[in-house]
Amino acid sequence: MSLHQVFYVSRAAVPYDSEAVQTILSQSRRNNRRGDITGCLMFSGCYFAQVLEGPRDAVEASLSRIGGDARHTDLRVVLERPIDRRAYADWSMAYLHDLGLEDDVAALVTCDDSSDPGRVGDVMSRLTPDTVMGALR
Ligand SMILES: Cc1cc2nc3c(=O)[nH]c(=O)nc-3n(C[C@H](O)[C@H](O)[C@H](O)COP(=O)(O)O)c2cc1C
Repeated sequence: MSLHQVFYVSRAAVPYDSEAVQTILSQSRRNNRRGDITGCLMFSGCYFAQVLEGPRDAVEASLSRIGGDARHTDLRVVLERPIDRRAYADWSMAYLHDLGLEDDVAALVTCDDSSDPGRVGDVMSRLTPDTVMGALR
């Protein structure tokens, strides 16, 4: 089955501490393993950015469930494409907390990307497995 990748941004709608983030991650990892979905979640303090990849049907079903989650709002899909190979093959959901991405992700959520057409690619590249692992070292 062909692989599909979705990249979305959203705004946190409830206060988050590490426990609240952990709850999302454990739900995500359990469901994603079941649905053959891999990806990365980034939280910058007030915003999320997430890459989901896997079989198209599973990714779309997951996205629609995530979109209805009241723990975040203003979800905006900024990239959706078929892929040949997974970027996060080893992660049911990698996680990155990057305060430095707050302004860029805020601009994507509010559609204020007129000044920087490369922003989606820039933010995505900060979420790549190499960058994530670098940040953990
Ligand atoms: C920012 C954010 C990211 C999420 N990412 C995922 C995800 O990757 N996979 C997933 O199954 N649920 C994810 N969720 C949780 C879903 O919205 C939903 O609560 C969950 O899938 C329900 O799972 P359950 O029916 O097993 O309780 C996310 C929620 C938020 C707020």
